[in-house]
Amino acid sequence: MNTKLNEQLKTDSIYLPTQGRIIKITPLTEQEKLFTIELPDGISLAHRPGQFVQVSLLGVGEAPISISSSPSRSNGSFELCIRRAGDLTSAVHRLEPGGVLGVRGPFGNGIPIERFRGKDILFAPGGLGLAPLRASINQVLDNRSNYGRVMILYGARNPGELLFKEELIEWSERHDVEFHVTVDHPNQDWKGNVGVITTLFENIQVYAPNTIAITCGPPVMYRFVLIEMLGLGIREGNIWLSLERRMKCGVGKCGHCQINQIYTCQDGPCFTYAQIKSLEEAL
Ligand SMILES: Cc1cc2nc3c(=O)[nH]c(=O)nc-3n(C[C@H](O)[C@H](O)[C@H](O)COP(=O)(O)OP(=O)(O)OC[C@H]3O[C@@H](n4cnc5c(N)ncnc54)[C@H](O)[C@@H]3O)c2cc1C
Ligand code: FES
Repeated sequence: MNTKLNEQLKTDSIYLPTQGRIIKITPLTEQEKLFTIELPDGISLAHRPGQFVQVSLLGVGEAPISISSSPSRSNGSFELCIRRAGDLTSAVHRLEPGGVLGVRGPFGNGIPIERFRGKDILFAPGGLGLAPLRASINQVLDNRSNYGRVMILYGARNPGELLFKEELIEWSERHDVEFHVTVDHPNQDWKGNVGVITTLFENIQVYAPNTIAITCGPPVMYRFVLIEMLGLGIREGNIWLSLERRMKCGVGKCGHCQINQIYTCQDGPCFTYAQIKSLEEAL
């Protein structure tokens, strides 16, 4: 029998991680690696795009990490794109294939991609924000006929920081994807657009009533991206944003991620602009 990880957690403590085994490590940039992880026999992650897991190492710590693979490509494993930032992520970066780490989740609401059938979808990830949005992008591309236009605007600081380069090439070569990429600081080999992600909005026109827009990235980036999306006339309830807040429990118990009445871990991390526009701390 195949048990979903969340069902297993209901029978055990919600704080008890399951051991995930790293089956593959793919270096993406100097700071980011993609970890392919398998759970023990009979347990599947069963996630939605936009959800996250709590990753832990005994004696080191625990941190929320978005699930970067789409459910449509799960094959019994899932992928996490992890930036080396502090204690936990640096220790995870030192692991080799075959190494184990703790996994709790999947947590959070995720993006309701299946509700967007027939809609045009505009993805605008910045930097590491592509890690969570990749799950939604590939879910849409694997069910391509269910959706209208697919637009992807991706910005990174420099060419070396672009994530998932092979997939970027694939998306740029597809006739059913409108793909635009930019970097703030080019190197001498860079032939593409230079400038912040908002400069890419000049390349697209949308039919606003039928468009869903989804963004994720650092606050300094998404504040300006939200202005562009609103400027295109996209409805506040159709603009989705994935928020990153410091978390502990991941399950709405500790209040660590609370902004006013919202628990980012449970009510989010994905919100519409309409839901959070009055929350100064979020924007
Ligand atoms: C929902 C969600 C999804 C995420 N998804 C991803 C993902 O897909 N990939 C990924 O790489 N990261 C992701 N993150 C970010 C990741 O959880 C953090 O970077 C996490 O802090 C890393 O843990 P650490 O122990 O390695 O680093 P930490 O020790 O937590 O340090 C990380 C950085 O924060 C600084 N810092 C430490 N403590 C504080 C503090 N109290 N206040 C302010 N700054 C502090 C450190 O100096 C360092 O620069 C996500 C976060 C959230 C909330
Ligand atoms: S992390 Fe504990 S309530 Fe959200």
